[in-house]
Amino acid sequence: MLEAWKQVLTLSKLKQGEVVTILTAPDTHPQTLATATMAARGMGAVVNRLDLPPVNGERSLSRDKLAFVGTTPLTGNRAALAALKASDLVLDLMTLLFSPEQLEVLQGGTRILLAVEPPEVLARMVPTEADRKRVLTAGKKLGAAKEMHITSAAGTDLRCALGEYPLLEEYGFVDAPGRWDHWPSGFLATWPNEGTSHGRVVLDRGDILLPMKSYLAAPIELVVEDGYVTTIRGGLDAELLEDYIASFSDREAFAISHIGWGLQPRARWSTLGLYDREATIGMDARAFEGNFLFSLGPNTEAGGTRNTACHIDIPMRRCTVRLDGEAVVVQGRVVC
Ligand SMILES: [Fe+2]
Repeated sequence: MLEAWKQVLTLSKLKQGEVVTILTAPDTHPQTLATATMAARGMGAVVNRLDLPPVNGERSLSRDKLAFVGTTPLTGNRAALAALKASDLVLDLMTLLFSPEQLEVLQGGTRILLAVEPPEVLARMVPTEADRKRVLTAGKKLGAAKEMHITSAAGTDLRCALGEYPLLEEYGFVDAPGRWDHWPSGFLATWPNEGTSHGRVVLDRGDILLPMKSYLAAPIELVVEDGYVTTIRGGLDAELLEDYIASFSDREAFAISHIGWGLQPRARWSTLGLYDREATIGMDARAFEGNFLFSLGPNTEAGGTRNTACHIDIPMRRCTVRLDGEAVVVQGRVVC
């Protein structure tokens, strides 16, 4: 882990004398914290630790911090916000995602790296310069595209207009001021233009629901109209999904959020079945090579105003993704 952090911090251009603040929570992994601290100090950084108590416990139906978003330990916390803004690099071992405060910190030039998966997952997927190149190369195509069209043998046929929102290029380190990233990762995404997504998404057996962290046993059909899922059909899995989303009592929870595809060969579709549900947030599932990552919920990460608390990620296998007619993923295989 010490070597892993040194590689991540070197790729993140950590310089002697820079101020690093490590954000922690009661469930931060002690080995990740200890090795991050040692690596950053060993490289000559000034290192702080900021420990914040968890929020949303009384409101969320899940213990997964990516499941209930929007309100974070930074909400209304001026002192913590000031500390983060005064830092060059924030190592987020707590999960500060989807918050206006995070955007504010980034806009001041601070870089933020999220790392909350268990140490062995981090060690298996230490980011590399090659990861960055692969994501950015694919990102050029996505950034130029006006439409994403997703199809599958299971029946998916979804069209999304693009161009309104920026790209999310996740390669696992933060090598520029104001950059946010997540270790481990290795995928590319963007958000469809508001109100434009149309068609249907058929989730197939083996596709993954997050935060449920389950593999579907049977298909679920989602009808998408004007950027929102309007109908959910299927068996038990469909009923569980619909009941969960309905618990938020928020129409915005049905909005299409980020869409993109996995580019990380060291992430595996099968690993989620090997872990206790609370031991991982499912980054293998989000990043495995060739998955089409479909999601519902907020767009605050992209600078939008949809701050819904409900966030669902759905890595799908065997989809074909076309950008303006050109295939970038064919039946779950990356071709660009
Ligand atoms: Fe997501």
